[in-house]
Amino acid sequence: MIKKIIPFLIVAISLSAPSYSQKKAATTPVSIDEKVNALIAKMTLEEKIGQLNQYTGDRDATGPITTSGDKVDQIKQGKVGSMLNVRGAKFTREMQQAAMQSRLKIPLLFGQDVIHGYRVTFPIPLAEAASWDLDVIEKSARIAGTEAAASGIHWTFAPMVDIARDPRWGRVMEGAGEDTYLGSLIAKARVKGFQGKGLGNLDAVMACAKHFAAYGAAIGGRDYNSVDMSERTLWQVYLPPFKAAVDAGAATFMNSFNDLNGIPATGNSYLQRDILKGKWGFKGFVVSDWGSIGEMIQHGYAKDNYEAADVAIHAGSDMDMESRSYINNLAKLVKDGKVKEDLIDDAVRRILYKKFELGLFDDPYRFSDGQREKKTLNKPEFLAAARDVAKKSIVLLKNENQILPLSKDLKSIALIGPLVKSEKDMQGFWSVDWGKEDHLVSLFEGMQQQAGKTQLLYAKGCDISDTSKAGFAEAIKAAQQADVVVMAMGEKYDMSGEAKSRANIHLPGIQEELIKAIQETGKPVVVLLMAGRPMVFNWTADHIPAIVYTWWLGSQAGNAIADVLYGQYNPSGKLPMTFPRSEGQIPIYYNYLSTGRPAKDDQDTHYRSGYIDMQKSPRYAFGYGLSYTTFEYSGLKLSAAKMGLNEQITVSFTLKNAGNVAGEEVAQLYLRDVVARPVQPVKELKDFQKVMLKPGESKTISFTIDKEKLSFYNEKIEWVTQPGEFRIMIGGSSDAIRLEDSFNLVD
Ligand code: NOJ
Repeated sequence: MIKKIIPFLIVAISLSAPSYSQKKAATTPVSIDEKVNALIAKMTLEEKIGQLNQYTGDRDATGPITTSGDKVDQIKQGKVGSMLNVRGAKFTREMQQAAMQSRLKIPLLFGQDVIHGYRVTFPIPLAEAASWDLDVIEKSARIAGTEAAASGIHWTFAPMVDIARDPRWGRVMEGAGEDTYLGSLIAKARVKGFQGKGLGNLDAVMACAKHFAAYGAAIGGRDYNSVDMSERTLWQVYLPPFKAAVDAGAATFMNSFNDLNGIPATGNSYLQRDILKGKWGFKGFVVSDWGSIGEMIQHGYAKDNYEAADVAIHAGSDMDMESRSYINNLAKLVKDGKVKEDLIDDAVRRILYKKFELGLFDDPYRFSDGQREKKTLNKPEFLAAARDVAKKSIVLLKNENQILPLSKDLKSIALIGPLVKSEKDMQGFWSVDWGKEDHLVSLFEGMQQQAGKTQLLYAKGCDISDTSKAGFAEAIKAAQQADVVVMAMGEKYDMSGEAKSRANIHLPGIQEELIKAIQETGKPVVVLLMAGRPMVFNWTADHIPAIVYTWWLGSQAGNAIADVLYGQYNPSGKLPMTFPRSEGQIPIYYNYLSTGRPAKDDQDTHYRSGYIDMQKSPRYAFGYGLSYTTFEYSGLKLSAAKMGLNEQITVSFTLKNAGNVAGEEVAQLYLRDVVARPVQPVKELKDFQKVMLKPGESKTISFTIDKEKLSFYNEKIEWVTQPGEFRIMIGGSSDAIRLEDSFNLVD
C-alpha cells in the first residue's frame, strides 16, 4: 500500500501550485460534502467544466481529438473529468499520471461497458434474467465488478434496466426482458453486485442505471428511435426498474438517445430534474449517452452545440460523454448569463463526491495495481461461477419423448450447425475483447469433456447467414451415421446488440432448411438455439422434438450446455420475454390490457381482437420453460376471502415434483385487478419463488399479498389502490396457470 501512495505524494509535493491534498492537513474537513465544497472553492470555471467532460480512450489516448490539442494535454490542463474505454492497470495509471499534472490534481474516473463480465464472460443479461435467480445474477455482477476494479476501472455502464417488449430491438439482449417486477428485482441485484460492500472498497465499481428513460420502447424496434408513450405507461411499466436502481444505491445514471414524446431524454428536465433528482432524491450524477448532447441538433431540438449544452445542463445532464458540447460552450454560456455557475457547481459537486467516495483523492492509483490485476482476473472460481449461471440461464422449450437428457451409452452423436465450434458467438455482443488471450468453451469442446465413449461427429452444414446448401450433404451424412443429432443454430454475436435491430427475427439464412433436411433423416434431433433475442422458428417449433434456448452464454457456454444435455443439470430457466410467432404480432407481451372484444382463444376472430390470418397467442409465453421432471400444483389456500387496505393475505399451495429426477421450478404468482379505473392488465407478475425439489418431494409455498402489490398509477399518476375483486393466478408460466381463486379488497 505504502509503495502505491509514494509516487502520488512525490508528484503532489514537487509541484508548486497548491493542491487540495496539501491543504488538507490545515483545514481537515470531515465530511465528503465539506471536502467537495472546499475543492470547488478553489476551482476556476474552466476547471469545473473540465470535470463535466468525458472522452473515450479507444486504446489510443494520444491521438489528436480537437484542433487545439490532444487528450493527454487536455487532461494535464484539467479539462477532462473522466475517460471511457481506458482499461487495464497500466493504461489507467498512465492516464491518471497525466491528471496528476493538472493544477488541482483531480483524479480521473475510468468508465467501461462491463455488461456481462469483464475478463470472464457471463451469459448476456437477458439470458441471466431467464434464470430468475437473483443470487446468481448478483454474483455474476459481483465478479464482473471485482475483475473490472482490479483492472483500473471505477465505473461500469451497467445495468441496462430498460423494459423491452419488442424483440426486433437489438438491445433486448442487454436487459432483463419485458416484465417490470422481475426487471426491478434484477436491477437491484445487479446494482448490489457491481457496488459490492460499497464504493471505496477495492473490488467495487460504480453502477450506472441506463438508459433513462424509456429507450426500450423505440418505435418499430429501431435503435435510437423516438418513443411515444402515455405518462401512465411510463410510470407503471418503464420507470420502476430505474427507481429500484436508485433505491439500491446506484451511484450514477446514463440518459438515453431517444426522444420521449418529442423531448430528447438528454434535454429532458422532467425526467432528470423533476423525477430522478427531485422526486426520487438521486444524489449521484447523470452521464449523457455517447454524443447525445450534440445529437439534440439532429433531433431538431437544438440549433447548435451551444444551445444543446444550454438545454442539457439545465435538464440535469451532469457529464458530457464525447460530444464536446460542454467543454466548448459552457464557459461562454456562463459569461453570456444563460447558465448560472451554481448549475455547474451542482454537476461538479455530484461528480467530485463520487471521486472522494472511491478514495481517489487519497490514492488516485488505488485501482491501477498490476499485481492485483494479475492475481484477480480469470480465477478458476470465477469460471466455475460463470458455468453455474450459464446452465441456470438455459431454457428447455420442448422435449417430446424425453429425448433429453442424452444417454452416456449412445454410440455416436452428430453435432451439426454453424455454431458448433464457434467461440466468439458464445460470448455475444458487449463482451470485452481480449483477442488471442481469450479462450471460450465451444459446444464441441464442452461435449468432448462429457461424451465419454460416445463418438462425436461434426458437420457445419451451413454458415449463419448462408444462402448456399453446399454443406447440407455432408451434414446429412453425419446425421445418418449418428444415434442422435444435436444442432447448434442461431445468431452471430453481432446480430443482437446496440444498433443491431432486425426487422426479420427468423432464424437467419437457410438454417431452418438445414434443420428440415436433418429431420428428414429420421434421426432424433435436438435443436439448440443460440441468440441474443427471442427469434421466430415456427417450423422447428412444430416439428423438432427437442428444443433448447441457450442464448449467448459466455466463457463457459459449451460446458454449461453439455451439463444440461447430459442431465448433469436439470434445466430450470423461464423466458423473461414473450416469443412471437411472427414479427406481425410485435409488440407482444403477457401483461396487456383486455379490450372490449377479447378473443377467447386463437380461433375466436369474428369481430374479436385477434388476427384473421394468424393466431394471436405467442409461440412461447413469458415465464415458460420446461424441466426434465414435472411439477404439480395443488391445494390453493387463502388466509382470508377479504383483505382490509392495511392488511395482508397469505396465499399458500403445495408444489410437488411428480417426476423421477430432482429439479427446480419457478412458481409464479400473477394478480389481476378485475375492475379498475384505469383498466389494469389481464395478469401481472407479483411474486415468484424458485424451489428445488427431490423426486416425489412436496413443499408448501406461500406468497404474501399486501397493499403494495395491489396498487397502480391512476390517470393523475397517483399511486392508488382500489377496493374490489382481485384474481389470483399461480403456475409455472404466464400461460400455464394451475391454481386460481379470488379475494376482495375492502375499505
Ligand atoms: C452507447 C450506448 O448506448 C451506451 O449504453 C454505452 O454505455 C455507451 N455507448 C458507451 O459505450
